Amino acid sequence: MLENRRILLIVAGGIAAVKAPDLIRRLRERGASVRCILTKAGAHFVTPLTLAALSGDKCYQDLFDLKDEAEMGHIRLSREADIILVAPATADIMAKMVAGQADDLATTALLATDKPVMIAPSMNVMMWTHPATQANLATLKSRDVRVVGPSAGDLACGEVGNGRMAEVPEIIAALTRFFQKTEGEGPLKGLRALVTSGPTHEPIDPVRYIANRSSGKQGHAVAVALAELGASVTLVAGPTQEADPDGVNVIHVETAKQMMKACSEALPCDIAVCAAAVADWSPEKALQKMKKEPGKTPSLTLSENPDILATLSQPGPTRPQLVVGFAAETENLIENAKAKRAKKKCDWVVANDVSPGSGAFGGDSNTVHLVTGTGVESWPTLRKRAVAERLAERIATSFQRQ
Ligand code: CTP
Repeated sequence: MLENRRILLIVAGGIAAVKAPDLIRRLRERGASVRCILTKAGAHFVTPLTLAALSGDKCYQDLFDLKDEAEMGHIRLSREADIILVAPATADIMAKMVAGQADDLATTALLATDKPVMIAPSMNVMMWTHPATQANLATLKSRDVRVVGPSAGDLACGEVGNGRMAEVPEIIAALTRFFQKTEGEGPLKGLRALVTSGPTHEPIDPVRYIANRSSGKQGHAVAVALAELGASVTLVAGPTQEADPDGVNVIHVETAKQMMKACSEALPCDIAVCAAAVADWSPEKALQKMKKEPGKTPSLTLSENPDILATLSQPGPTRPQLVVGFAAETENLIENAKAKRAKKKCDWVVANDVSPGSGAFGGDSNTVHLVTGTGVESWPTLRKRAVAERLAERIATSFQRQ
């Protein structure tokens, strides 16, 4: 999908600029051509020589460089691309894009372009969550700027939280998805997919809730992988730290009942993948915050939540052609997964080992077994993204066979 695509990469001034060389290399490996604009601040982190050497083209830096303007004016630079990618996109460049400021080559190119723009934000967590940045993000999205990441993790500034630039493979995937979408390509083209992801929060009172452990990483990755193969994807997400994937229709919910409702409204669809860790019960919610009373232990009255996977799997006119569930187990993995498949009447179950020490919760890897009607496939330990890609490929193959 990236073959012969022309990418204008704007490298702004953040520590994640050090990922630019690898990004350029990976893009070129896929047949894309990359031309770079390096901002003044960006040049503190990566050299123009590195970017020029890896892109095989000049690295553009100065708006008032007479020679550059004679050879390739900033207007041409901004138009002779299929997409402009800003990576890293700092809080500053995002603010300038919103304001329409054009005080250097990068911002001028962004203002002068008639081409799609994608940004990969990267900044300190407080800067990212600041209402100013969030408002800027919303404005950029409303102008159709695509956004990839950021993700949560250790930040270079020593703090932990949201603000890490998306990793290079994620950026490549987002670009691939973008081009695929513009061309309506991929083996799942024309099919609709529904994915659930993350935990649900069941309120006990206005400040407390019951939840399952789930980062949403696996479910979100499945949504992305299906979209990459051309499916039109609705992702119903419980509260997670994961960013909304670009090119996927995301519906945010909090409770199991809301998740059920959002899934029912997303029907009909061809594929459903239930990766959410839905809380099995919800407490009777107290309207006010429950107060501690000495010597008294409160008890919760729980009622059963709807089983989304089992509901979607029920035979009927809106049953998706393929329903896939996940079974997170701490023991007797395959036996329990087979039993779950029979009980919930879904077509496939992805069984994953979440026993202590497996590192599955919150981690980036997963060891899974795919239980289908014809047998069990045991996959090696893979990154969650790779598990998602393999699952999406399997789904595509099963639809092709049909
Ligand atoms: N699931 C669901 N709705 C629920 C509970 C679970 O859609 N209310 C889905 C999950 O998304 C997952 C599968 O069912 O795809 C298995 O979830 P799991 O929690 O392992 O199964 P349970 O039915 O809760 O069984 P148990 O906790 O007894 O193992």
